[in-house]
Amino acid sequence: MGRENLTWYLAERPKADIVVGETFRSEKAEAPTADQLKDGQILVEALYLSLDPAMRGWLNDVRSYIPPVAIGEKMRGSAISRVLASKSSKVKAGDLVNASVGWAQVGIVDEKMFEVVEVPANGKVTDALGVLGLTGLTAYFGMAKIGLPKAGETVVVSGAAGATGSVVGQIAKLKGARVVGIAGTDEKCAWLKNELGFDVVLNYKSASFKKDFEQATPNFIDVYWDNVGGEILELALNRAAFHSRFVMCGSISGYNAPGKESKGIRNLFQVTAQRIRMEGFIVFDFLSEYAAARREISQWLAEGKLKRKETIVQGGLENVEQAFLQLFQGQNMGKLLVEVKPYEEKVGARL
Ligand SMILES: NC(=O)c1ccc[n+]([C@@H]2O[C@H](COP(=O)([O-])OP(=O)(O)OC[C@H]3O[C@@H](n4cnc5c(N)ncnc54)[C@H](OP(=O)(O)O)[C@@H]3O)[C@@H](O)[C@H]2O)c1
Repeated sequence: MGRENLTWYLAERPKADIVVGETFRSEKAEAPTADQLKDGQILVEALYLSLDPAMRGWLNDVRSYIPPVAIGEKMRGSAISRVLASKSSKVKAGDLVNASVGWAQVGIVDEKMFEVVEVPANGKVTDALGVLGLTGLTAYFGMAKIGLPKAGETVVVSGAAGATGSVVGQIAKLKGARVVGIAGTDEKCAWLKNELGFDVVLNYKSASFKKDFEQATPNFIDVYWDNVGGEILELALNRAAFHSRFVMCGSISGYNAPGKESKGIRNLFQVTAQRIRMEGFIVFDFLSEYAAARREISQWLAEGKLKRKETIVQGGLENVEQAFLQLFQGQNMGKLLVEVKPYEEKVGARL
């Protein structure tokens, strides 16, 4: 038998949180090989797999921005991967790519389903999934297209210590705004304040949160970045400034309770009363502008104006289910990744 390939498949649709050992099913089978490649395809081994709250949405059989994962289908996902063999003119064996290999150690990926990874000055390989990947780009476009923060304005960010929120707040600071970050632990709040330079930080699990929120927004909110929905969105609506912008990025508080999140927002009339511009977006909407955005983010990184953190779950793809739960239990700071196989710069001998 050739190389073994651990792969995870969707076994059943979760009704609430995913259930370890039930929602997904793993299988070890022989890995695909170079002789199976068709023109344009590449064979890759995954190194770092991105875990994203959106993945929970893909498990529900509902109308969304992409079709759900089918029962029995390999779980979708993107990983920084090493090319083992290539029939694509874009890459050769040994190159690093960000590939839609799914929750698997090895896979064959079509030409449209991977991007070459370029590591900028001051950057690292895993940035291609975080600050230069979809979460960093989400922060960039949500602010550039909808939030449009101006110097002196108050910007409030929920989910502020996560992969997206931590970049959102820093971009708002770069634009000269006063930034209020909301997160679920004191450790996260301390990181936002002491290292990322947020002006005010609020722990939404604190007993005084509602009062603290009001005190932190004496001139109301000009830009609210919503990563969480639910009660925090209601609070933000009550503190919205006239003509404020609400960037509707995600609603993680409702992801494990499909259907329930829509009945939670009780004060939507504030959108009318305060003439709020409330707009959703999906990062893919700006695909044609990724390269330009990455140039600007890379510049900020090189100049030390943008910081980022990663939570990397060690121990291989065996741990992916428990790792995925961390997003919903608030255990990650910055971008959550699973180390499928450690990255080594010099691998010539190993290939
Ligand atoms: N529109 C788009 O194109 C797009 C693209 C990427 C991501 N998103 C959305 O952006 C949001 C953040 O995604 P991410 O990838 O950057 O993940 P992340 O913020 O790195 O991780 C999720 C964080 O959400 C917080 N959280 C979990 N349950 C919560 C709850 N019930 N109430 C409040 N906070 C809760 C946790 O932090 P605490 O400890 O603070 O609770 C957790 O660490 C998600 O809503 C995601 O769906 C949208």
